[in-house]
Amino acid sequence: MLKDKNVILGVTGGIAAYKSVEIASRLRKAGASVHVIMTAGAQNFITPLTFREITGNPVTTTMWGEITNYNVEHIALAQLADVIIVAPATANFIAKAAMGMADDMLTTTLLATKAPIFFAPAMNTNMYENSLTQGNIQKLVDLGWHFIPPATGHLACGTEGKGRMPEPAEIVAFVEENSAMSLDMTGHKVLVTAAGTYEPIDPVRYIGNRSSGKMGYAIAEAAQKRGAEVVLVSGPSALKAPAGVKLIKVETAAQMRDAVMDNCQQADIIIKAAAVADYRVQEVSEHKIKKNDQELVLVLEKNPDILKELGAKKRAGQLLVGFAAETQNLLEYAKDKLEKKNLDMIVANDVSRKDAGFNTDTNLVKLLYRNGTVDELPLMSKHLLADELLNRVLRLK
Ligand code: C5P
Repeated sequence: MLKDKNVILGVTGGIAAYKSVEIASRLRKAGASVHVIMTAGAQNFITPLTFREITGNPVTTTMWGEITNYNVEHIALAQLADVIIVAPATANFIAKAAMGMADDMLTTTLLATKAPIFFAPAMNTNMYENSLTQGNIQKLVDLGWHFIPPATGHLACGTEGKGRMPEPAEIVAFVEENSAMSLDMTGHKVLVTAAGTYEPIDPVRYIGNRSSGKMGYAIAEAAQKRGAEVVLVSGPSALKAPAGVKLIKVETAAQMRDAVMDNCQQADIIIKAAAVADYRVQEVSEHKIKKNDQELVLVLEKNPDILKELGAKKRAGQLLVGFAAETQNLLEYAKDKLEKKNLDMIVANDVSRKDAGFNTDTNLVKLLYRNGTVDELPLMSKHLLADELLNRVLRLK
């Protein structure tokens, strides 16, 4: 995975800096081209020369010195990077990164890059567990940065506890596993809708459905990890927004329509996994409806069909994927929707099964394409399915 990739290895001022030499060496053996950036603190622990010898590349130690191999501006490394690893990452450095500071080459590079970022924190246990440090880490995790959890053991300060930098082999393995280094969706702008909608009856009641949002959130997360810029328009859901994804929360189908229309022009891939209510209550009661002995009649009117509207105004180069949840005549209904809504692909799932469809962790789907092909996928987790769907969407591009 790391073969022929440009890896920026940031080294900050902690005693574990000596272990970073082995990280550099392992990365190089894995076929990566390694470019080391050292903070001033790091240079107190280890010399740039060591890294230069190990990597075969010049080592960046300052923003202000003569740049030997990059005759371009200071963000050259940020652009070159396929992945950035900061190991060790001190509490101070994490705090600076979380503040968005750019007062040295490493912080500047982090701020300017689009590459996946990995931090291996290493520090005293109390510093690590301090809520300030934890808050800073959380802030960066929410942006999609990866943190490699520190190991527990003997620390340089003489204590035992959590805060040791994991072994270089573990760090390299973690990066390989987590950096879907095939950033094959870089440059794509993906709009995903997820979860059901709530259509109000009165101030306290609504008509809803059993959609959890799991499928749409898994697609948004997978696309983001593969390098896409993702906007997720979601109806009410208990799920947490995937890191790095722009989440727009809505309640009703009408609100979802507006959010989708506001964001569809930029998107080149639109995946509509939301279970949008087909009808809404015509007259929403301003006050809570009181019960009496009579029947209650609610008049429902049609909601806008968002997907159909998108299909009608689909621009060249835009791919439109819909979902069809059915309890009968699955293929027939799905094919009909594919055509009527002008879709490129439709994901048909039989929601009468216990292990597929609404509010399950697994899904069993058939994919239908415009050329009439039907692709039957085996039962799999919604996360795995998300990647399988994206693989096929990219093939249509
Ligand atoms: O026609 P049906 O509701 O079964 O089609 C399902 C597909 O259409 C899903 O992709 C869903 O997100 C979308 N849809 C929509 N707006 C509606 C109803 C469904 O975008 N009002």
